[in-house]
Amino acid sequence: MPARTIIIGTGSHLPKKILTNQDLEKIVDTSDEWIRTRTGIETRHISSDDEPNSFLATQAAKKAMEMAGVRAQELDLIIVGTLTPDMPMPSVACLVQKELGARKAGAFDLYATCSGFLYGLSIADKFIRDNRRLKILVIGSEVLSKRVNWKDRNTCVIFGDGAGAAIVTGTREPNRGIVSSHLHADGSLWELLAIRGLGTAQEVTAEQLEKGWQYIEMQGREVFKNAVRALESVSWEALESAGWHSEDIDLLVAHQANIRIIEFLRERLGLSKDKVFINISKYGNTSAASIPIALDEANRAGMLHPGMRLLMVAFGGGFTWAGMTMRW
Ligand code: COA
Repeated sequence: MPARTIIIGTGSHLPKKILTNQDLEKIVDTSDEWIRTRTGIETRHISSDDEPNSFLATQAAKKAMEMAGVRAQELDLIIVGTLTPDMPMPSVACLVQKELGARKAGAFDLYATCSGFLYGLSIADKFIRDNRRLKILVIGSEVLSKRVNWKDRNTCVIFGDGAGAAIVTGTREPNRGIVSSHLHADGSLWELLAIRGLGTAQEVTAEQLEKGWQYIEMQGREVFKNAVRALESVSWEALESAGWHSEDIDLLVAHQANIRIIEFLRERLGLSKDKVFINISKYGNTSAASIPIALDEANRAGMLHPGMRLLMVAFGGGFTWAGMTMRW
C-alpha cells in the first residue's frame, strides 16, 4: 500500500478588526443589501500594522501544530501560498520558520493567488508520497486590505485578510489521504485581475501610484464567468480522476470568492446544500487563505471524519485554478 498524504492538524487566524457592510456604506457608494445579495459577504477582517501576513500565518500554524501534536523542530518544509507577503524578500515562509523556530525546515512562498493553498498541498503531497514520515506545514495567508483601493467599490467590498494552515504527513491507512490533484493556469487572461505596479517591470513612480497601480484591479463580471467555467471543469476532472461520481462527495470546500459562484457550482454538481461548506459571509474573499480557513472551521466544528470524501476547488488571478479530491 503506497503512502497517501493526510492532514493531521488545522489552524486559522483572523485579524482582530472587523469591517461590516454598514461600515463600507460610509466609505464608498454601496449598500449592505447589494453586497449581501451580489456576493454573500457581511463582514471581513482587516489586519492592523501589528498583524502582518507573517504574524497571521504563524498564529494559524501554531494552532495547526498544536492540533497535530507536531513540534516546530519536527517540520521538514514550510510552504506559504500568498500574493501579499510582508515584503518582497524574505518570503513569508522564512519569517514563519524563524518565529516557530523550525530550524530543520526548508521554506518558500508559492505565488498562485487564490489557488495557492491547493497548489501548495499538491506539492507537499508529491514529497510525502516519496517519504511518508515527512511533516510539512502548508499555509495560505493574505493581507489583501493593503492592496485594495478603498475608493473602488468594485473591489473593496469583496476582499478580507486572514490565514489558515494545515500539517500534512503520510499514512498507509486504507481509504485516507489525497487521491488526486489538478493544477491549471491561463496567463493570457491576466489583465482581468491584476496588480499592475510594485513589481520590477517598471520603476515605481508617483504617476503610477496616482493611477492606483498598487491596487487590485478586477473586471468582476469577466472574472465571474471564467471562475464558474473553470471551477466546474476542474471539479469534473478531479471526480473522474478519483473514480468518483458527484453523489460520492461528502463535502465540497470551494474557494470563498462569491456565494453565487459556489451556488452555481453546487447546482452543476447536483449537490444538496448540506454538502457545501460556506463561510464567506464572515470573511469575504481571503484568496489563498480561504480554503485552509474553511477546512479549519469545518474540522473544529466536527464536520470532518476519517475516510470522508472531500472535493476542494479554487480559482484566482493569473488565472490559476486547481482541484483536489481527498479522503479525510
Ligand atoms: N455596491 C453597489 N453597486 C456596485 C458595487 C458595489 N460594491 N460594485 C459594483 N456595483 C454596480 C456596478 O457599478 C454596476 O452598476 P451599473 O449596472 O450601473 O453599471 C452593477 O453594480 C453591476 O455590476 P457588475 O460588476 O456587473 O456586478 P456583478 O453582479 O458582476 O457583481 C462582483 C460584481 C464583483 C461581485 C462579481 O462580478 C464577482 O464576484 N466577480 C468575481 C470576483 C472574484 O471572484 N474575484 C476573485 C477571484 S479569486
